[in-house]
Amino acid sequence: MHFHVITLFPDMIESAMNTSIIGRAVGNGIVGLDTVNLKEFSQNSYGSVDDYTYGGGAGMLMQCEPVWQAYHAALERLSSPDKPPRVVYTTPQGSVFDEKIAADLATADDVIFLCGHYEGIDERVLEEIVTDNLSIGDYVLTGGELPSLVMMDAVSRLVPGVLNNKESAETESFNNGLLEYPQYTRPSEWNGKKVPPILLSGDHKKIDKWRMKESIKRTRERRSDLYRDWLAERGIY
Ligand code: ADE
Repeated sequence: MHFHVITLFPDMIESAMNTSIIGRAVGNGIVGLDTVNLKEFSQNSYGSVDDYTYGGGAGMLMQCEPVWQAYHAALERLSSPDKPPRVVYTTPQGSVFDEKIAADLATADDVIFLCGHYEGIDERVLEEIVTDNLSIGDYVLTGGELPSLVMMDAVSRLVPGVLNNKESAETESFNNGLLEYPQYTRPSEWNGKKVPPILLSGDHKKIDKWRMKESIKRTRERRSDLYRDWLAERGIY
C-alpha cells in the first residue's frame, strides 16, 4: 500500500503518519507515504493556489492547474505505475467512509488523497482525476488533511503486517457487524467496582458466550442502526 497526499500542509500529514503503529508501518516500508506540496505548483509569484469563484459568493476556490500538476507529480511516484490509482477527494459531499470502504481501498496498490481547503476545488479538475468522493461524517472541517489521516489510519491497519497479533486481537469492533464487548484489566476491583466474575472463572466457553451477549446488548443500546443490519443479515427482521 502506497499513499500519496496532495496537500497545502505536508508537515501535518507526515507528523501524524510517522507516529505510533502507522509510523512503525511507514518506517519498515509496509506502508509507503509521499506528500505532494500544492504550493510548489502555484501559478504565481505569491505562491497562492486559490482564487475568487465565478458567479460571486464568499470564499476562495482552489484552482485547477496547481491540482492537476500536483496530481501528475503523484503519478510519477506510483508503486504500480501500470495500474490506475484510486484518487480520493475528501469532501463533506462524499459517501460516508466506513470499514467496508476502508477494506476496499486496502486492496489498492496506490491511493492518492486530495485535500481541499477554502471553499473547495474547481469542479473541472475534480471531474478529471477523482475516483472516490469520501466524507468522514456530517460536519464541516477546515481542510481535508484530518479526513485523509483518518482514512489512511483505518486503511493501513487492514494491510497485512501492519498490526501485530496482539494489536489485531484487540481491535475487533465491526468485524462481525457488532460493537466489541466491555473489557477489563487489573486490578479485579477498582473504586468498589468488581470485574464481572465470569471473566475470572477460566471457563472459556462461558466467557465467549458472555462476550457475545454483551456485544449484542451494547450494539442494540448504542448503535441501533448496526443492530438492525446485524439482525437482517441473520434473517431476523
Ligand atoms: N472536508 C471538510 N469537511 C470534511 C468531512 N466531513 N469529510 C471529509 N472531508 C471534509
